[in-house]
Amino acid sequence: MIEITDNQFIKNANFLQKDFGIKIFGDVYLSKGVKICPNVTIGCYPEHLFNGAKGIVFIGKNTTIRENTVISRGTTNSGTIIGSNCYIMNGSYIAHDTKIGDNVIISSGVRIGGHCRIQSYSNLGMNSCFHQFTCVGTGAMVGMGAVVIKHVLPFQKVVGNPAKSIGSNGDYIRKKYQLPFTNEEYYEIFDSVKSKKRA
Ligand SMILES: CC(C)(COP(=O)(O)OP(=O)(O)OC[C@H]1O[C@@H](n2cnc3c(N)ncnc32)[C@H](O)[C@@H]1OP(=O)(O)O)[C@@H](O)C(=O)NCCC(=O)NCCS
Repeated sequence: MIEITDNQFIKNANFLQKDFGIKIFGDVYLSKGVKICPNVTIGCYPEHLFNGAKGIVFIGKNTTIRENTVISRGTTNSGTIIGSNCYIMNGSYIAHDTKIGDNVIISSGVRIGGHCRIQSYSNLGMNSCFHQFTCVGTGAMVGMGAVVIKHVLPFQKVVGNPAKSIGSNGDYIRKKYQLPFTNEEYYEIFDSVKSKKRA
């Protein structure tokens, strides 16, 4: 595993960290405290038939990326963004242009399609997968193996294929992180993200 000791913007990266098989390509911003485990690939060309690849990859501070995870570069200038204090478990896939907030837990084998928005404090169970352009709201819990094809509201708990709500995850998450807003305020933020998303 390597740990980033200072914020660094690596321009035109194209290197292999020989000891660990870590591969980093393109323009990648790695914040202080990021931990990268063996065989992680960050910033390779987007898996998209239009292969424009201008976007950066940004990883926020203290985020951990476990083995064999793949994070693709964006197709647009806005890039692929991952927030701070996220924990991304082994074998996950985060496609081009996806935006992930802070304190998000991504369990092993999660597949996130392009242009998704995963808001802060959400928790994605093992092997869940997300249709491109899907939004997951703040503090939501997605069950293992869920196939998410519709937006998941803030603090919702969803399971199954196609994923459906089985209740609220709100009390637990709001208490754990002492979140400041009401549910309604989170819904408003979520709606503004959704309407921008397909513009
Ligand atoms: C989604 C989850 C949090 C629900 O937990 P819970 O609130 O305790 O829910 P329950 O176990 O009481 O189950 C409620 C119902 O949902 C169903 N259910 C729970 N998880 C499910 C899942 N992943 N897929 C399909 N159905 C599920 C249960 O069978 C139950 O159905 P029933 O009411 O018809 O009997 C949990 O099951 C889960 O998937 N956690 C993620 C585990 C994981 O990925 N861990 C990572 C380890 S590294």
